[in-house]
Amino acid sequence: STVVVAIDGPSGSGKSSVAREVARRLDLAYLDTGAMYRAATWWCLHSGVPLEDQPAVARAVRELPLDQGVDPDAPHVVVAGTDVGEAIRATAISAAVSAVATNLDVRDELRRRQRTAIAAQRDPGAFSGGRGIVAEGRDITTVVAPDADVRILLTASEEARLARRARDVHGSDDEAAVAATRDQVLRRDADDSTVVQFQVAADGVVTVDSSDLDLEQTVQAVLAVVTQ
Ligand code: CDP
Repeated sequence: STVVVAIDGPSGSGKSSVAREVARRLDLAYLDTGAMYRAATWWCLHSGVPLEDQPAVARAVRELPLDQGVDPDAPHVVVAGTDVGEAIRATAISAAVSAVATNLDVRDELRRRQRTAIAAQRDPGAFSGGRGIVAEGRDITTVVAPDADVRILLTASEEARLARRARDVHGSDDEAAVAATRDQVLRRDADDSTVVQFQVAADGVVTVDSSDLDLEQTVQAVLAVVTQ
């Protein structure tokens, strides 16, 4: 039988690297829902849709021609034939993504697609090739897949999250690098928090605190929850 693992957490909690590695080790599919909001943002900017025009953004995202892979070893994010895997990590996208992700019509559309992607892996029908999935984001444990077999909130102290983010973006966690990411990360978490709740574990959701754990230790902690 297949397993569905839902992992939520704030920026810098390490959820993407951890979720992907857990999927790899358990031979499960992997869905990065943050990449979908980033791809939607890229698409709006690319097509010249003003982000403050909410109905226009919603229309654009309903037609988002997104092709996203669920293989943890070869994740690809392609929009209208363009591989945007790197472009969606750019600072300009990180700065703009909350404006798109707080649009409730956008959330309806992307949540619908996320549920479809999860359902395709959940049930190993005769020809579906479903193999179970790890889905990761901000509202997977609470809204997208509250019925997941395993639900985890990956948290970390603000200090640990900012240091991780600084290493990701600037290759260093010295004072200047942390200062350079600090405002954006904290503002994005605050903006996101207006529409999704990912700071406190919902009922039945297991908290894993990665503040004092490295990647491998966090992977082990999550695997322990999944296989218990
Ligand atoms: O870069 P980081 O790990 O912080 O975030 P991400 O997982 O790439 O998600 C980028 C953005 O997408 C978040 O800041 C949210 O605005 C949005 N998001 C969301 O609203 N709901 C999700 N399930 C996943 C991401």
